[in-house]
Amino acid sequence: MRFKGETILITGAASGIGRATAELLMREGASELILVDINAFAIGDASPGCSIRMLVGDVASESFWQAADLGEIDGAVINAGVGGAGQIADLEFSEWRRVLAVNLDGAFLTMRAALRSIRPGGSIVAVASTAGIKAERGIAAYASSKAAVIQLARVAAKEAAVSNVRVNAIAPGGVETPIWDEVPMFAERAKQVGREKAFAEMAAITPLKRFAQPGEIAEQIAFLLSEMSMTMTGATLVTDGGYSL
Ligand code: NAI
Repeated sequence: MRFKGETILITGAASGIGRATAELLMREGASELILVDINAFAIGDASPGCSIRMLVGDVASESFWQAADLGEIDGAVINAGVGGAGQIADLEFSEWRRVLAVNLDGAFLTMRAALRSIRPGGSIVAVASTAGIKAERGIAAYASSKAAVIQLARVAAKEAAVSNVRVNAIAPGGVETPIWDEVPMFAERAKQVGREKAFAEMAAITPLKRFAQPGEIAEQIAFLLSEMSMTMTGATLVTDGGYSL
């Protein structure tokens, strides 16, 4: 019951890492979850004692956050994100803006809303990516957005410390979630050999030779939200099976 009595905001909660985090925090005694996603969704069996507020909207829309009445919160997980691929010379400006709008503008607006609503002692976790640390071909928009999210979290950590609020980033490597279906190279390979094999092939290039499951990342987000990480702020928790080494 690590989160007994707490109210926690999670964006991108309909799927993947956000959904796994919501399910974990429910099991761990959170009293209220404010779940945001652009898609309407239902979450499995709500635990008795945990109320759920679903807000359907676009994290990149300032008017969405102006209308969202968060009340007081104890934690926030800035998680909503989209994938994107394309080498810089071929990248349409509209595609660059699409990715930056959700992953960076959305992270800023969520961070601002969270900082305005969080109680002293609270903790905010921004979901970045090892793409924000390690350069690869063909991921300029996504990688730039995630590098910026890491720095946004560091600046926020310095600003919020005066209110005894912690802000950290987490940088996963590969995690088996639907976001990969937006990556053409993966989608094509999955069509040829199946999703499981396509994930296994990509994981083979990491030192630990595995991708993460969403529930494993949820546990690490819970660690950053919890008192177990009380001395950490402005950190980036890299969780990538050694991929970025
Ligand atoms: P996912 O696609 O399963 O979940 C993303 C969620 O965000 C979806 O429910 C989607 O509807 C929501 N969303 C997208 N745009 C939105 C918007 N404008 N407003 C509100 N909600 C929106 O993907 P996953 O993997 O769970 O992604 C979660 C976060 O983890 C993302 O920020 C992603 O960049 C990050 N990440 C994922 C990795 C992976 O390998 N799956 C690796 C590193 C980071």
